[in-house]
Amino acid sequence: MNMNAHTADATTVEEGLAIQEQQAVLDSESATAVAMQDTLLTPRFYTTDFEELDAIDVTPVRADWDHLIAEMRTDPNKGHFKKDDTWDHVDWDAMEPELKKEFIDFLISSCTAEFSGCVLYKEMKRRGHNKDVTELFQLMARDEARHAGFINDALREAGIAVNLGFLTQAKKYTYFRPKFIYYATYLSEKIGYARYITIYRHLEANPDKRFHPIFKWFEEWCNDEFRHGEAFALLMKTDPRLTAGVNVWWIKFFLTAVFATMHVRDHQRPAFHDALGVDTDWYGQEVFRKTSDLSKQIFPITLDIDHPRWSKGLNMLQRASAQVDAGKRKGGIGGKLTEWTGAAKAALAFAALYTIPAKRHQVPASTRLEPAY
Ligand SMILES: [Fe+2]
Ligand SMILES: [Fe+2]
Repeated sequence: MNMNAHTADATTVEEGLAIQEQQAVLDSESATAVAMQDTLLTPRFYTTDFEELDAIDVTPVRADWDHLIAEMRTDPNKGHFKKDDTWDHVDWDAMEPELKKEFIDFLISSCTAEFSGCVLYKEMKRRGHNKDVTELFQLMARDEARHAGFINDALREAGIAVNLGFLTQAKKYTYFRPKFIYYATYLSEKIGYARYITIYRHLEANPDKRFHPIFKWFEEWCNDEFRHGEAFALLMKTDPRLTAGVNVWWIKFFLTAVFATMHVRDHQRPAFHDALGVDTDWYGQEVFRKTSDLSKQIFPITLDIDHPRWSKGLNMLQRASAQVDAGKRKGGIGGKLTEWTGAAKAALAFAALYTIPAKRHQVPASTRLEPAY
């Protein structure tokens, strides 16, 4: 393989990963250690019942399916995720230490999340026989390998990178039944779109706040995530039972968990949001609103994020999570006690959020949407 090959030009996930493997010599241990963490809040790796997933028949959504796959095949972002002359120089040494720490944490966790999608999609493609399913997963894995590779490019300038080959081998995999993979992955793709486009639009209006060039890539980036979300909406649309009956409670659970996790994680990065000139609570609500609107394409409910108990519950959860962290730092029996009380408070806060009555919606006959934000 060409030593100057770049993940942005890779047309398959295998090629993209091989290029990253070559660069792994530069990778640092501490960044990989951060990516290895498995807590409720950090990105995980997933595995599932690949045979059940492979058995999906997309006939009920054939027209929309073919349209989406054709678009992904044209590969609109081939070659895009690469530093070019619009990539401004980043003076990492001059960056305020707190911001640097939080931004690097943001990059590592984004890279892990991108790579988590890559690993899951690639495995599905490898194990499956269903031509529709394997082609979709090959195309999505291709995109995620590029995204992860690009974030690693940015990290490398700061002298660190995540060792993706090592992560694949060593990180713990969480098993989710296929339907939980659909809910969780659909939401993470759509919320990913909403997060990236909200930051992109904000920085378009406030270019002086763009403290790192990677944000310039967020527009095309989020369009990839949008398409991935469309694919999961179609997969769920093939079976009406997935979005009815008791599964609506599961949908509510995943909506609450995904939104709550984002709230807590983002509040752990005050300097990062300060530098962007973004109020974390405003940003959160904005992203929840966009994600909720999009999810009406397939989910019969959305969370009532304007309910008076909503922000109260989120803040409670955030304080509880801070208490858990404080307990862990303290250590010993006293620390454990603090940690457990924090965990109990977090469970209560989550229950308070979960029991806010949801809003019901009529779901459209076709899931098809275009990115409009
Ligand atoms: Fe991605
Ligand atoms: Fe994605």
